[in-house]
Amino acid sequence: MASDRRADGSAGPSEAPSEALAAATSPALPERVRIVEVGPRDGFQMEPGFLPTELKIELIDVLSRSGLAEIEATSFVHPEAIPQLRDAAEVMADIARAPGVRYSALVPNLRGAERALGAGVDALHMVIAATETYNRRNVRMGQGESMAQLERIARRAAEASPAVPVAVTLAVTFGCPFEGQLETGEIVRLARRVASAGAREIGLADTAGLAHPHLVRRIVAEVRGALPDTALRLHLHDTRGLAPANALAAMELGVDTFDSAFGGLGGCPILRGATGNLATEELVNLCDELGVATGVDLEVVRRASRRLAQHLGRTLPSRVLAAGTREELYRANRGQGE
Ligand code: COA
Ligand code: ZN
Repeated sequence: MASDRRADGSAGPSEAPSEALAAATSPALPERVRIVEVGPRDGFQMEPGFLPTELKIELIDVLSRSGLAEIEATSFVHPEAIPQLRDAAEVMADIARAPGVRYSALVPNLRGAERALGAGVDALHMVIAATETYNRRNVRMGQGESMAQLERIARRAAEASPAVPVAVTLAVTFGCPFEGQLETGEIVRLARRVASAGAREIGLADTAGLAHPHLVRRIVAEVRGALPDTALRLHLHDTRGLAPANALAAMELGVDTFDSAFGGLGGCPILRGATGNLATEELVNLCDELGVATGVDLEVVRRASRRLAQHLGRTLPSRVLAAGTREELYRANRGQGE
């Protein structure tokens, strides 16, 4: 195969023709994707043991230097509901905030929002589930009560100086283990409700990893059509290996903000068989391959993953963390096939 390798050995065989083909056949992709790193929240909440506060801070500080746009640093929930994140205020107080990085936190109610605002977060991510059953199990209140909490949170966040933006993440949008898949019209109605209650951004979450590209296209297209002025973010779990395919399907519809977790950490505490988020390494690698800018230095993200893997004494699920990039593969094997 040496004959069709580039002279400098840096790129794969037949690179130029396949890129020309891609440009001719692929739908337009966003020029740039914003990545919200949720490992410190979605990931750390799932670790069976409590991660030392200093380690959380060290890892967030590494991630802060990777070029990520935003880090969901923790959650301000009931300390008995998620004991792993009971140190939320200490984490927020002691991280070294990098200029240009937004530090957000997940909150379930007004009490959590007040604690988060007191800790100086840049943005609030409230979580409301798309189904009544899931919402009750997760936050012990009905959707109506969550909506009322959201209105109060939005008012309180608007009074902060400077005002703090509120996003709502709609859990189980792409399928609920208890209620199944909601009608798309139902999801659109919920999205309208949260937008009119004060959400500036809506995160559509595939909490149980049930999404597939057709479903992503259908739901994203409907929600965007109904709410063209509300920013959309996708929160994908890679439970069935479809998260990168789902991300690509959403990008092809112009979605440019994605949650992901370093190392592929993540899960959901009330869900049996829950697995990790779309890995940040895989999302960055996908975007790099597609020529979509992220501003993220993959090596710095991997530094955080390797540090955590070393602390935990186990490998993390991210495949790009294990396998490296295409460039690295070629570099490592240069000259071997001759
Ligand atoms: N942070 C800290 N304490 C909180 C709190 C918060 N966000 N919300 C409520 N509390 C306190 C109240 O002040 C009250 O304290 P008191 O007994 O001293 O007066 C007590 O908790 C009970 O309040 P209540 O509103 O009845 O809460 P609850 O017991 O029904 O629990 C939630 C509701 C939302 C706080 C809890 O279910 C929760 O934190 N869930 C988070 C789930 C989660 O993170 N899931 C994974 C991410 S999607
Ligand atoms: Zn999640």
